[in-house]
Amino acid sequence: MQNVSILGSTGTIGQQTLDVIARHADEYKVFALAANSNIEALLKQCLQFRPEIAVLLDEKAALNLRAQLKAQSCKTEVLSGAAGLEQVASDSKVDIVMAAIVGAAGLRPAMAAACAGKRILLANKETLVMAGSLFIQAVKVGGATLLPIDSEHNAIFQVMPPQGLAELADGGVRKIILTASGGPFRKYTQQELANVTPELALKHPNRVMGAKITIDSATLMNKGLEVIEAHWLFNAKPSQIEVVVHPQSIIHSMVEYVDGSILAQLGNPDMRTPIAYALGYPNRIESGVTSLNLLEIAKLEFEAPDVKRFPCLQLAYDALQLGGTAPAILNAVNEVAVAAFLKQQIHFLDIATLIAKALNSIKTTPFTSLEQLIAVDAEARSFANSNLKRLDSKRLLTA
Ligand SMILES: NC(=O)c1ccc[n+]([C@@H]2O[C@H](COP(=O)([O-])OP(=O)(O)OC[C@H]3O[C@@H](n4cnc5c(N)ncnc54)[C@H](OP(=O)(O)O)[C@@H]3O)[C@@H](O)[C@H]2O)c1
Repeated sequence: MQNVSILGSTGTIGQQTLDVIARHADEYKVFALAANSNIEALLKQCLQFRPEIAVLLDEKAALNLRAQLKAQSCKTEVLSGAAGLEQVASDSKVDIVMAAIVGAAGLRPAMAAACAGKRILLANKETLVMAGSLFIQAVKVGGATLLPIDSEHNAIFQVMPPQGLAELADGGVRKIILTASGGPFRKYTQQELANVTPELALKHPNRVMGAKITIDSATLMNKGLEVIEAHWLFNAKPSQIEVVVHPQSIIHSMVEYVDGSILAQLGNPDMRTPIAYALGYPNRIESGVTSLNLLEIAKLEFEAPDVKRFPCLQLAYDALQLGGTAPAILNAVNEVAVAAFLKQQIHFLDIATLIAKALNSIKTTPFTSLEQLIAVDAEARSFANSNLKRLDSKRLLTA
């Protein structure tokens, strides 16, 4: 029986993790569930899975949850704040940590899990984007096992030679091919992109995901963040990571070898496949995902991404090339810009403009500590917020 802590349990990845675990109740026990402030969802999960600990970042929400659990005679202990998140990520009783908090908030608990030597199922790509070198170092020093949950990286992991290559070429790998759905606006003109609403952007063609990653998919920033993630996970140079738009989302990514072979992982676009793969690794366990019907799919299409219409992808490559704190700046400004777009404070195209402005204005430096990165994250957010304040709700930054 393995004890699992799920950070971000009320989110889409968290819920799908619980769905897979519920199919294997004799092998995995939910030790802890953690979220931000969603009392109602966490209460339901606690009553169903009876974890030892539940954490809510929000102190008031935690008090409320504690009272409601007590009223229902549920013995789950309730913790709060960032310390609670780090505690359940590193508790000595925990074997597996699902890191599925969204955004920069997931960094510290993921680091805590790495330092404590856990098996980390990493959905929170922002951890690698912000702090790739530090996180990979913490995984090595802490003796942790890192398994990617992002479906693209999970696919690559499945078709790569055994991990730990100093260089891709050592394993005969020529390049990594990350597939992208292209998002809901793949065919939109620049003019049409200027007018898209949050409602439209939240309709992803192939997946149901949290709001932030759905907007990132629409701007192609999600693919950009994944390029940076692939760099750290697989020791791949930026020139060895290619992005190909594949609207059906059936091939989850590919690896090309020097002999011309391309190995791909295919399946229905359902995150329970990578979650089950990482939970069971190196064994395969049932995930609940239906078989892929190739005859029904019939056709797989590929096209090049258009970085003119979707500049966020290029901005991520640029930040990776710049190195140091540039990816953390990119990530922080993107989070602020996406939140502002969702609140209809800025337009869709302003997201990329704001990020480009920040990368041009904030000095990029090397970093050696988490504290340094957190300070850079705060500086970049403050830059983004002060630029937002200068806009009135109707005026486009891009105008
Ligand atoms: N969804 C996918 O298909 C998918 C695929 C690949 C990778 N990912 C990555 O997985 C991560 C989660 O994505 P998602 O789609 O599951 O997001 P989501 O549905 O928005 O869920 C986010 C989760 O994080 C919690 N949370 C947010 N801020 C927090 C904070 N400051 N402290 C503690 N918990 C916090 C939320 O709690 P509340 O409910 O209380 O707000 C919720 O449980 C992201 O990094 C995303 O890029 C997702």
